[in-house]
Amino acid sequence: MPRLNHVIESQQFTLPLIHEVFQVADQMEKILDRGGTLDYQNKIMASLFYAPSTRTRFSFESAMYRLGGKVITTEQAHMFSSVIGGETLEDTIRVVSNFADVIVLRHTEIGAAKRASLVSKVPIINAGDGKGGQHPTQALLDLYTIYKELGYIDGLKVAFVGDLEQGRTVRSLAYLLGKFERVMLYFIAPDFLQIKEDIQDYLTRHNVWFTLENDLNKVISEVDVVYVTRIEKERFGDKIELYEKTVKNYFIDKDMLQKLKQRAIIMHPLPRLNEISIEVDDDPRAVYFKQTRNGLLVRMALLTMVL
Ligand code: CP
Repeated sequence: MPRLNHVIESQQFTLPLIHEVFQVADQMEKILDRGGTLDYQNKIMASLFYAPSTRTRFSFESAMYRLGGKVITTEQAHMFSSVIGGETLEDTIRVVSNFADVIVLRHTEIGAAKRASLVSKVPIINAGDGKGGQHPTQALLDLYTIYKELGYIDGLKVAFVGDLEQGRTVRSLAYLLGKFERVMLYFIAPDFLQIKEDIQDYLTRHNVWFTLENDLNKVISEVDVVYVTRIEKERFGDKIELYEKTVKNYFIDKDMLQKLKQRAIIMHPLPRLNEISIEVDDDPRAVYFKQTRNGLLVRMALLTMVL
């Protein structure tokens, strides 16, 4: 099995490594069907979350238990007595890396996982760093979902919709998709929520076709994947009308579904607020809850690869 050390950002994953993750995730599905394994019973995972999470924390913890391992955890690391007292992230990591074999870290600051990896004695897995940072394990489970649902990635047309400026899942997935042949990426958002220039520069340097677009209606019938992200109300302050107009313009409902290809899929990293109508949930093209199950498999795979 290929060995990973830290999981910090999507750019570190080569195409062969991505395919290895997929293969190991397939094996994990078989292990899960048998009720799990005890292979990692001597290993401990620390989940250190400085920001809220449902899916990422629970799926990593479930993954470790399914592998037979043990978990030490805090869901409010910023409330640690030592952190309140001013302990740095680096010192916290130096300490916790004495107690665990792997640390899964979510933090409010961009670059926190990288900083942690520089002082940790054990592998660090980035579970999301800051708004506008990265969420590489989410991107891997998203890509795995696309692969399982559609059977291929080369040549796909993928639309990203919503708050693309701050969306770390979009950033990480765009980096991964950019490694495949002939993919076409459509970033669909109002100008003030558009994808940042660093991603645009990266895609340009790597000859990846992409376009920025305001109008979802113009491209919905062309694409194979619609990847929807949350538009946060807090971003709009007291501009409630602008918020409501923006949500309405990018809302996925039954009317929008009619324009979508029969073989296309609709994804969302969740949590969902007002971006997708619940009437869409029963459509076979809606795969956002399947993504969460695939997250468990991919995170089991990543844990086995770093351990
Ligand atoms: N998709 C995702 O990262 O969800 P959580 O914030 O619940 O972990």
